[in-house]
Amino acid sequence: MPAPPTFPGEMAEFLLSPLCKSVIVLAGAGMSVSSGIPDFRSAGVGLYDTLQPDLLTASELERELIAEDPTLALDKGMFLRNPLPMLELKRDFILGTQEARWKSTIAHRFVEFLHTKLGKLTRIYTQNIDGLELQCKGLPREKVVNVHGSMGAAACELCETEVDFDEFCSKVRSSVKDITGQSTDAPTESKPILCEECGKPTVKPTIVLFRGSMPKEFHERTAEDLGDCDLLIIMGTSLTVSPANSLVYRIPPTCLRLIVNNQRVGRMLGIDYTENSIRDVFAHGHSDEMCLDLMDKLGWLDDLASIMDD
Ligand code: OAD
Repeated sequence: MPAPPTFPGEMAEFLLSPLCKSVIVLAGAGMSVSSGIPDFRSAGVGLYDTLQPDLLTASELERELIAEDPTLALDKGMFLRNPLPMLELKRDFILGTQEARWKSTIAHRFVEFLHTKLGKLTRIYTQNIDGLELQCKGLPREKVVNVHGSMGAAACELCETEVDFDEFCSKVRSSVKDITGQSTDAPTESKPILCEECGKPTVKPTIVLFRGSMPKEFHERTAEDLGDCDLLIIMGTSLTVSPANSLVYRIPPTCLRLIVNNQRVGRMLGIDYTENSIRDVFAHGHSDEMCLDLMDKLGWLDDLASIMDD
């Protein structure tokens, strides 16, 4: 078995070569951090580590449970029991999405170029709900699978009645208190947002909660895509959440895996960081910087500069 390509030089050669026909990207929150959106699990700065359960409108028991396991604030069972912690936690993010407060990163542009310059991007599976891929105009909508849904639309979790996103946002602005301490016009107490169809307080952005169902598109696309993949780029994800992380082992055994992350992830899933690795390549660092290194070798920097200036 030959050694896997070195990063970035041989990886760029591999991307350009006819051996590489299909590239899939599995993306996570680390890819959007440089736009100003914190990730979930980074110590000290991630959403879960900085979450203060005491600020949430919840019973003592609910707060204790969320303190023990912060993912419960984004859990379907918890949301149906009390929707306010999720809405309070996501208030700033929901309103920031509506205002298009965040811009796509160099890493997003790299993925766009895999399609526009090489025609080799089969799909990006993103766990991110920020919609930053959509700002890349060269990336067709069908190339993007939003594994955990996306902001930009809202619906009732129970009866699935769709709600206009702007209307939903104005309700969030006027009914949900701000736990970041940054908003001056937010109410001091939260009120539930009721579904006009079923009357339940279960209207939310169309994002997937823990123990909620995955979009049909995830299962359909992965069934079509994975078998032909030559390179899986795993970028800015801790690979802790399934079934998104299953891509890592569902691709063919011959498929190379490029891990772009500021830490080693996925060892429990079989990613090999030793020098004996036959298929795993580690680009250790900031996702934008790693993508810049690769784009430099691919000769894409001028085009990147002109697109970022737009
Ligand atoms: P995590 O926060 O779990 O992981 C982000 C990963 O990116 C970590 O390994 C970080 O070390 C790394 N990272 C952070 N900043 C980086 C940067 N600038 N460059 C490179 N690496 C960086 O986020 P996800 O894996 O996306 O689900 O989380 C998966 C899911 O868990 C989310 O979609 C969300 C969450 O709970 C739901 O809410 C259902």
